[in-house]
Amino acid sequence: MVDPAGLVDRVLELPIVPSFTRIGSAVRSRVDDWKPLSSYNLEGRVMVVTGATSGIGRAAAEQLARCGATLILVGRTAERNQQVVDQLIASTGNQRLSQVAADMGDFGQVRDLANAVLERHDRLDVLIHNAGALSSTRLEAPSGIEATVASQVVGPFLLTSLLLDRLKASQPARVITMSSGGMYTARLTVDKLEMSAGAYKGAEQYARAKRAQVSLNELWSQRPDSDGVHFHAMHPGWADTPGVEEALPAFGRVLGPLLRTPAEGADTLVWLAADPSGVETTGKFWLDRRQRSIHKLASTRRSDTPSRRAELWSWVAKAAGIEPV
Ligand SMILES: NC(=O)c1ccc[n+]([C@@H]2O[C@H](COP(=O)([O-])OP(=O)(O)OC[C@H]3O[C@@H](n4cnc5c(N)ncnc54)[C@H](OP(=O)(O)O)[C@@H]3O)[C@@H](O)[C@H]2O)c1
Repeated sequence: MVDPAGLVDRVLELPIVPSFTRIGSAVRSRVDDWKPLSSYNLEGRVMVVTGATSGIGRAAAEQLARCGATLILVGRTAERNQQVVDQLIASTGNQRLSQVAADMGDFGQVRDLANAVLERHDRLDVLIHNAGALSSTRLEAPSGIEATVASQVVGPFLLTSLLLDRLKASQPARVITMSSGGMYTARLTVDKLEMSAGAYKGAEQYARAKRAQVSLNELWSQRPDSDGVHFHAMHPGWADTPGVEEALPAFGRVLGPLLRTPAEGADTLVWLAADPSGVETTGKFWLDRRQRSIHKLASTRRSDTPSRRAELWSWVAKAAGIEPV
């Protein structure tokens, strides 16, 4: 028996432009009859959202706040974070919002962030790793690690490690990582995960980090000590956000109105945080509320071996200052 919604969805997946733009989400929302996000009641659920001051993370935080969740918003500066908290309290009426300033690439600040979360709330239902940026110049984090890798691979790994016991105590809990469709072009690499100064290309560095996030997501889900915590990685398609405008201005000019709004880019993130589907699977990769393959190219699939994954886990754990288990 042919599943008509599945067929339409597979046709959309073939060329990436309709799939990743708002055409994809508009068609899928109709054929899959998406439940409105406003219908979820998240009162009593505690969630951390990194990168909540702008773009997709801000849109996700606003929707989660509307549904009644208790939120800790994370961005790099307290003043900007607090402005967003105040705006979201005003727009949603939800008073249970607070913020912590932390640069996810600064591991001391990530440790302070974890302590603040643990002190502030006795439960943690959802941890959302959304903070991210594509930098055209090579920057280094305080640890000396290339900044994209430090803030989007090592920092989130450290935060998950430090909050894992609280997540387990609140099970079923969820950890959701915002990757990118850009990772489809990148092989899994450990020795070249950080690009050297001479070879640095921002888009390539970003894709390598986003690929590593997706492999780590699967590894977390397979660990016996993660029992009760459901891990998800996803990509948002292409959304018109300040981050895209800054990193890829030509992108917006070419795709213009085809880009998703930040709220459309945030849809699957909020859905994974809110819907019971988010605790029915673990280790999967999502776009538009459906599981997706993590590889589209044979070359990237060949690179993503169990031994390289084990090497990645050890490298990231060491970089984060956590004992690799
Ligand atoms: N937009 C898209 O089409 C698209 C496509 C694929 C993937 N993504 C991913 O979606 C996520 C959100 O992107 P966006 O487009 O919404 O970008 P954005 O508008 O630039 O927002 C990025 C957010 O991340 C925070 N952030 C950046 N670096 C940080 C760091 N080192 N530590 C803590 N917070 C940091 C920023 O906060 P502060 O500046 O206040 O610190 C901001 O809240 C990223 O992971 C991005 O890679 C986006």
